[in-house]
Amino acid sequence: MTGRHLLDIASLAPGEAEALIGRAVALAGGAAPRRLDGEVAQLFWEPSTRTRVSFELAARRVGLHSITVDPDRSSSVKGETVDDTVGTLAAMGIAALVVRHAEAGIPERAAAVLAASGVAVINAGDGTHAHPSQALLDAATLLEEGIDWPTARIVLLGDLRHSRVARSAFALYRRLGVGELRMAGPPELLPDPGDPAFAEVRRYDDPDAALDGVDVVGCLRIQRERIDALDLPDVATYHASWGLTAARAERLSPGVRVLHPGPVNRGIELDPEVADGPRSRILHQVRMGVFLRMAVYERALAAFDR
Ligand code: CP
Repeated sequence: MTGRHLLDIASLAPGEAEALIGRAVALAGGAAPRRLDGEVAQLFWEPSTRTRVSFELAARRVGLHSITVDPDRSSSVKGETVDDTVGTLAAMGIAALVVRHAEAGIPERAAAVLAASGVAVINAGDGTHAHPSQALLDAATLLEEGIDWPTARIVLLGDLRHSRVARSAFALYRRLGVGELRMAGPPELLPDPGDPAFAEVRRYDDPDAALDGVDVVGCLRIQRERIDALDLPDVATYHASWGLTAARAERLSPGVRVLHPGPVNRGIELDPEVADGPRSRILHQVRMGVFLRMAVYERALAAFDR
């Protein structure tokens, strides 16, 4: 069996993104999962709670056996290359490999190394490049609530520059035909003008103007692990200037949904009252993550009908 990769949103054929999010919503509504055979491996060179655990639970719920390889306790620490590590796992007969790495392009590289093996490579986040399953689960969370893509106004707030979540989200929202896309953050955390990942996204230098009239606010964590400490804004100033504070959230209409991919830094990118408040969909996203990743496995392992 030849698996199908999920490397970024662009790696999805026309209609596949819509099919995946629709399938996730159906699974969340009680549709029966398909039964798959085989073993899958998770290889996370960066820390993770949501993505790693939900891929593992998703695998179990569709009948797959999942193993997690801890790179810190693998032969990576003895100098084994990424190519040799993924080739070794493929030689043991896995059907799919879920990969997270700090370096952009590692999942694509793994897919090239494993081209002859038929192993499906699933990107669980690579550097600042992509986090496609996060974007898909965010969209599924909104779809489950009946969002109307052509009229929706969505803003992402915070560290856009270093965010793989933002790049995948905007790629997906453009595909889905979202009515208006916005981004807002301090100048040092916004992307370079002309970056194609942010095409068609309106840029704001005033958070209150950016939040005016939106249907969805996506808060983004400052990606400290990808930023030189000297370039980091002061946390208190950042929170006051750019955080989704309780006061800012109060000015949003009651139907606005607040998303955050997690992990949340309470009191920095958003206030605890907002994270736990009525507009927050943060734990809905986490719940939907399992269903979306079940759909990803169904597609990856060729049991997915479009
Ligand atoms: N959103 C996300 O990728 O969270 P984790 O780092 O916990 O997987």
